[in-house]
Amino acid sequence: MIEQNTTDFGYRQLSPEEKTRQVGRVFSSVARKYDLMNDLMSLGIHRFWKRYTVHMAAPRSNARVLDVAGGTGDMTVLFRDRLGPEGQVILSDINEQMLIVGRDRLLDRGIVRGVDYVLADAEALPFRDNSFDCICIAFGLRNVTDKQRALQSMYDKLRYGSSLLILEFSTVVLPLLGKLYDQYSFRLIPHLGSLVTGDKDSYEYLVESIRRHPDQHTLKLMLEKAGFSRVNVYNLSGGIVAIHRGCKI
Ligand SMILES: C[S@@+](CC[C@H](N)C(=O)[O-])C[C@H]1O[C@@H](n2cnc3c(N)ncnc32)[C@H](O)[C@@H]1O
Repeated sequence: MIEQNTTDFGYRQLSPEEKTRQVGRVFSSVARKYDLMNDLMSLGIHRFWKRYTVHMAAPRSNARVLDVAGGTGDMTVLFRDRLGPEGQVILSDINEQMLIVGRDRLLDRGIVRGVDYVLADAEALPFRDNSFDCICIAFGLRNVTDKQRALQSMYDKLRYGSSLLILEFSTVVLPLLGKLYDQYSFRLIPHLGSLVTGDKDSYEYLVESIRRHPDQHTLKLMLEKAGFSRVNVYNLSGGIVAIHRGCKI
């Protein structure tokens, strides 16, 4: 029997191609309600996590920044606010529906200059090597089929002396919080998702994919394997999320 290569899609095992398809389905399905659900699920705390990540990135005013798996553009807006007129942010995502919602949001806010939009797979970023001063991926890596390949691609696109910032759900480090968080995520989130988006399955996937994502230490090792140096990990909200920062030197 030929053994097929499989990968996680939440708690299920699928072929890599099928996982990519299913992740595409999830985000096309929730795109229009994605921002509302983020605020409801996190009680708005995701805004703080994102702000803090941009604060840690501390880009120069003329930096060229790449927002990978940027979806509806929260990180792009925050970076754009920090940069001067000569800075540039590229909002990229593999999913056209998410990118369209992101572009419309930015245009509605009057953000026109210094932002570009690129439909792109994090595993094979279509940019010149060594061409970005900062790359971020927020709540995106978990959904990527081949994470190591994506880390390598992001490494290649960074200029020497620049950093990658990963903001992602991680492993809770406070036992009591972990128990409460499990109850909240498994019991409440899929129902909330069903109520707001009519799509319970996508929010079951969200909760499961968080549990399957590499923990802080494993992700640090993956960054080092991709070539990153000085990799630091910062737990936020007791490890519900973590920021990994790695430098290309
Ligand atoms: C949870 S959303 C995060 C959106 C945004 N960064 C934020 O923080 O709100 C995850 C995003 O990852 C995108 N994504 C999944 N796989 C991807 C891939 N291989 N390459 C690029 N984007 C991908 C999805 O389309 C989706 O927009």
